[in-house]
Amino acid sequence: MIIAIDGPAASGKGTLGKRLAEHFGFAHLDTGLLYRAVARVLLDRNVPLEDREAAAEVARTLDVSHLDDSRLRGAAMGEAASMVSAYQPVRDALLAFQRQFGTRAPGAVLDGRDIGTVVCPDAEVKLFITAAPEERARRRHLELQSRGEQAEYEAILADIRRRDERDMNRSTAPLKPAEDALTLDTTHLDADAAFRAALDLVERKR
Ligand code: C5P
Repeated sequence: MIIAIDGPAASGKGTLGKRLAEHFGFAHLDTGLLYRAVARVLLDRNVPLEDREAAAEVARTLDVSHLDDSRLRGAAMGEAASMVSAYQPVRDALLAFQRQFGTRAPGAVLDGRDIGTVVCPDAEVKLFITAAPEERARRRHLELQSRGEQAEYEAILADIRRRDERDMNRSTAPLKPAEDALTLDTTHLDADAAFRAALDLVERKR
């Protein structure tokens, strides 16, 4: 069984994905980390993010055993990931690994931007998680502060809006709900309430 979770930056889909996976004993893949890892390798090698060919080559040869690297988590890497993720050859190169992950027994939760639409179009459950940009910025701000990172709320909000804009309007695999996705707006839900609501939606589909 596959639970596909999509949604914009800082919508809470990662936390939800993790909790749902724990609840059902499923494997969990935060697919944003793949794009972040590609960006990280390019930056480490001083290759400009505009270099599509190099980005595609990095994606084709990506070592996926280091996705827990804490350096992938920062806001700058999210922005860089958003740039390289717009290149079709990069997306193509990362597809097989994601699809393979989806076959894990007894089930898998994948979260990202195009899981329900492109990566796992046949997923049994598809959730689209949204929240108002201001609320997403507030959460991201708290998260960064708790990790000791310097962060201005206004700058985070601007970053989120820019990333939404880029992810929703790109020609390849734009962020949008699959036709058969269930949408959950978490603007007024805390993490526990969001988890209960998501669990309810999953149980109804199972
Ligand atoms: O989810 P996260 O913020 O880690 O994703 C970083 C960037 O990677 C996103 O802004 C998006 O552009 C890209 N991404 C994507 N497709 C996915 C997951 C992430 O294009 N399935």
